[in-house]
Amino acid sequence: MNVAILGTGYVGLTTGACLAYLGHQVYCVDADPKKIEALERGEMPFFEPHLADVVADAKENLRFTTEYAQAIPAAQVIFIAVGTPPGPGGAPDLRYLEAAARGIGEYLGPHFTVIVNKSTVPIGSGNWVDSLVRDAFQKRGGSRAGGSFAVASNPEFLREGSALGDTLYPDRVVVGADEEPTAEVLYTLYRPILEQTFTAPAYLPRPEAIEAAPLISTDLASAELIKYAANAFLSLKISYINEIGLLAEKVGADIAQVAKGMGLDARIGTRFLQAGIGWGGSCFGKDTAALVATAAEYGLHMPIVMAAREVNKKQRERVVDKLLGELKILKGRTIGLLGLAFKPNTDDLRDAPAVDIAKRLIERGARVKAHDPVAMDRFRQEHSNCEVLLCASAEEVAEGCDALVLVTEWPEYRELDWESLAKSMRSAFVLDGRLVLDRTRLSRAGFRVSGLAG
Ligand code: UGA
Repeated sequence: MNVAILGTGYVGLTTGACLAYLGHQVYCVDADPKKIEALERGEMPFFEPHLADVVADAKENLRFTTEYAQAIPAAQVIFIAVGTPPGPGGAPDLRYLEAAARGIGEYLGPHFTVIVNKSTVPIGSGNWVDSLVRDAFQKRGGSRAGGSFAVASNPEFLREGSALGDTLYPDRVVVGADEEPTAEVLYTLYRPILEQTFTAPAYLPRPEAIEAAPLISTDLASAELIKYAANAFLSLKISYINEIGLLAEKVGADIAQVAKGMGLDARIGTRFLQAGIGWGGSCFGKDTAALVATAAEYGLHMPIVMAAREVNKKQRERVVDKLLGELKILKGRTIGLLGLAFKPNTDDLRDAPAVDIAKRLIERGARVKAHDPVAMDRFRQEHSNCEVLLCASAEEVAEGCDALVLVTEWPEYRELDWESLAKSMRSAFVLDGRLVLDRTRLSRAGFRVSGLAG
């Protein structure tokens, strides 16, 4: 099928690359000419494992452009995957979505086209996009009834850092459309994923358990709400275990064991019960805020979701409190942060706990050093006024520090030569913000170790 993808962020580029890999003819469109030129040279705009490999493998089927006029007219399916950054008051800023919808209306081809909302958009956006496309189509002299198109919702559930695997081997595919022919187009598009009939890339083998991906075919509003309900639930799972962690510390319980003991109940599940600094990134904070804002428009209060947000915010403050408890004075101390990105395997710094923590420590007069395997360039670009001393290695961070904080659980941090790190520090204290370090080994190396829950 002919596909156009508007927006080359994590969602757009991953979706475009995977659909092209499956054999569809894909145009990826982005307003930024520099980004498009770089993509044409095979350079990825962000760090995401295997994205460059899939783009290279699919290059026969994948084109990049800044022009809607090139991508839209022939497209049978158009994905809107533009950014919906948080706006003031919690509701997302929809200006890019609006511009994309108008642009589609201006260039829509004569055949039936399915326009898919892939970005996480507020509930009800499907209808709004429909009217924007129709208006733009009429303005250019189209018929009053508008072009032959329909809007569908197809939320994505990919995680940064494992975006390609999540797209090729999803837990489920959700298609929201108010009419059957619209949904049919998307089943055809996704058939190789739904039936798992494509040849798996050698670098991303098909997990053994996967034979087919379940399809949830529903109406527009339900598909839109599924995305928010899923993200908010994952957020509150994390905040729940962090809240239990507070009590675990008081009663002397081991939160990792508590999480495991809880999670092995199949009704609960072990994933997203990793206690620690809490969530960051572009999704959970934004989507929980948007859900609360949407509910408020209907006169509804969402105390559970709001509590999850509050608990998450406090976890970052607890990092500073813990350091204060250990060091007594923060002014003049040197604190080393291991990890800047909001999670491992990405260089994304949006709502990254490390940035927040660094700022709070600097405000209190501490000196902050940091390392991240891939996010330091981005940190230099996006946080040039944040006075963090970036170091080429974790060893360099540790030198002369009063405390280390493990903020992002990059696997390589577990394997550090902790014995020599302890020797190079002014005081060998480590705050394991993700509960991933081997405490026995670190204690043997001479460290005092603490987590956020004791
Ligand atoms: C999240 C969802 O997991 C995806 O399904 C969804 O598609 C995406 O948002 C989106 O809406 O676009 P993502 O934000 O990329 O994906 O990353 P996650 O792996 O969900 O991690 C989010 C944050 O939660 C990270 O900061 C991570 O460190 C934290 N986390 C995760 C915990 O603190 N504890 C856990 O047990 C799990």
